[in-house]
Amino acid sequence: MGFFSLTLMSILMCAFLPPSSQDPNDQSCLTNLFQSMHVPDHNLVNWTEPNLANPCSGFMSNLTGATCNNGRIYKLSLSNLSLYGSISPYISNCTSLQSLDLSNNALTGPIPTEFQYLINLAILDLSSNHLSGTIPPSLTMCMFLNIIDLHNNSLTGPIPPQLGSLVRLSVFDVSDNKLSGVIPTSLVDRPGNLPGFNATSYSGNEDLYGYPLGPMKSRSGLPVLLIVGIGLGSGLISLVLSFVVTCVWLKVTDQKLAAEHQGKINELMPEY
Ligand SMILES: *[C@@H]1O[C@H](CO)[C@@H](O)[C@H](O)[C@H]1NC(C)=O
Ligand SMILES: *[C@@H]1O[C@H](CO)[C@@H](O)[C@H](O)[C@H]1NC(C)=O
Ligand SMILES: *[C@@H]1O[C@H](CO)[C@@H](O)[C@H](O)[C@H]1NC(C)=O
Ligand SMILES: *[C@@H]1O[C@H](CO)[C@@H](O)[C@H](O)[C@H]1NC(C)=O
Ligand SMILES: *[C@@H]1O[C@H](CO)[C@@H](O)[C@H](O)[C@H]1NC(C)=O
Ligand SMILES: *[C@@H]1O[C@H](CO)[C@@H](O)[C@H](O)[C@H]1NC(C)=O
Repeated sequence: MGFFSLTLMSILMCAFLPPSSQDPNDQSCLTNLFQSMHVPDHNLVNWTEPNLANPCSGFMSNLTGATCNNGRIYKLSLSNLSLYGSISPYISNCTSLQSLDLSNNALTGPIPTEFQYLINLAILDLSSNHLSGTIPPSLTMCMFLNIIDLHNNSLTGPIPPQLGSLVRLSVFDVSDNKLSGVIPTSLVDRPGNLPGFNATSYSGNEDLYGYPLGPMKSRSGLPVLLIVGIGLGSGLISLVLSFVVTCVWLKVTDQKLAAEHQGKINELMPEY
């Protein structure tokens, strides 16, 4: 009896609580994100303190670009707003986030490793910014990732082979960066006969090589084997050349010495 009345009481209390019992994580996430990014005037004017303190009520948000689901931020679309600055690691506090689009801005700095805590993330679009540093291998912790679009940034280092284990990944674009190294076979021979990604996903990275791109290239754009060949060839030629030059020089000096010697003998010889 006591249990039922307690249950009834808590149900009633929940029903009468204001629907805007805000999640402190979303507030922390959005406030820190807003502070780390620099927003030009008139973009995101309604990302104000009262709105940030109260980002969602049910499915509604007063914040431009934010979409809510059951009182939590589940989608952030802040594309093409001339944003600069960096992506706050506190982004990880938006734990219900399923879709993040920060494309077509001027954001700098690294992709925070804290993305790994966004375990519901399905869409990650950070394309066309100035992001640098490496692609965090820990992105594989976001196991529902469907789309990873990082094209047109300044990312360096290798493509983490771990990304090949993301079984839902259907779009993967890292073209036009500064990535290097071999394309992981895990993204070519994917588990469960998932289709591999074609060259379009990788193009525009000078030091990236291997299928579906070509073999390793050097800075001059010539295949490495050819460079090695040229190196060996020129080495051999210079060896032969220096041998010939030395021989000729020796011969010449020999003759000179002989001539000088002859001269000296001639000088010593009394003239008749
Ligand atoms: C938010 O993220 C930071 C950094 O990852 C973490 O220290 C903090 O505990 C998180 N939660 C809140 C509510 O700030
Ligand atoms: C949006 O702002 C208006 C006016 O300040 C307020 O009445 C409303 O409750 C807010 N809505 C949400 C979803 O926070
Ligand atoms: C402020 O937010 C509301 C609700 O999302 C939106 O309709 C409106 O366009 C925003 N205002 C500005 C100036 O961005
Ligand atoms: C970005 O915004 C500018 C104006 O602010 C607009 O002219 C341009 O077409 C937009 N680009 C895209 C790709 O949406
Ligand atoms: C690449 O990103 C920069 C910075 O956002 C943008 O200005 C440029 O138009 C983009 N280039 C392409 C080809 O999308
Ligand atoms: C590569 O794959 C993408 C998406 O799957 C497709 O749109 C594109 O046409 C393909 N390109 C080539 C050259 O096969």
